[in-house]
Amino acid sequence: MSDVLCVYYSRSGNTKAAMEEVARALDAELVALDDGVDRSGLRGYLRSGRDAMRKATRALAPVETEKALSDYRLIIIGTPVWAGRCASPVRGYLKRRGLEMNRVAYLLTRRSATRYESVYHQMDMYTAQPHLFEVSLQPGSEGYDFWKEQFIGDVKRYLGRA
Ligand SMILES: Cc1cc2nc3c(=O)[nH]c(=O)nc-3n(C[C@H](O)[C@H](O)[C@H](O)COP(=O)(O)O)c2cc1C
Repeated sequence: MSDVLCVYYSRSGNTKAAMEEVARALDAELVALDDGVDRSGLRGYLRSGRDAMRKATRALAPVETEKALSDYRLIIIGTPVWAGRCASPVRGYLKRRGLEMNRVAYLLTRRSATRYESVYHQMDMYTAQPHLFEVSLQPGSEGYDFWKEQFIGDVKRYLGRA
C-alpha cells in the first residue's frame, strides 16, 4: 500500500500522462476524478471554460482510495489550467475533501508559457495546509522533462527515498 496518492483530472490526456509518469516514479496510488460532465469537443471546451470562470463545481463520482486522505504522507493533485484557474472537477474535489489534506503538492499542465502560480494559491484555499511542492508543466516544451524530474526529485528527497 503506497503512502503517496496522486489524484488528477484530465480532459485531453496531458495531465493524465504527467501524473502517470509521476506516480510510476514514486510508486504512488493513482486516481482520476470524474464529474460526469461531457467536456468533449468545442461545446465541452466552452462549458469547461465557463465552469472554471464561475468556479462552478458538480458532484463527483465516488473517489476510492486505499487509505483515509489524512493518512497519506503526501497527496499530489494534478490539474490542467482552465481560464487561469484549476479545472472545476479538481476544485470540486478540493472543496469537499481539501480539509482532510495536510501534506499536498500540485502539478499543473497548461498550453501557454505562463506558469500560473496563482493557481497554487487558489488551491491552497481549500486544503488544511499550504502545498509543499509544485510544478507547472507545458507539454511539448523543452523544459517539460527537466521540471517534471526536478519535482519528482524534490518529492523523493522529502520522502527520504532519494
Ligand atoms: C476550458 C479550457 C481553458 C483553458 N485555459 C487555459 C489557460 O488559461 N492557459 C493555458 O495556458 N492553457 C489553458 N488551457 C489549455 C490546457 O490547460 C492544457 O492544454 C492542458 O495541458 C490540458 O490538460 P489535459 O489534457 O489534462 O486536459 C485551457 C484548456 C481548456 C479546456
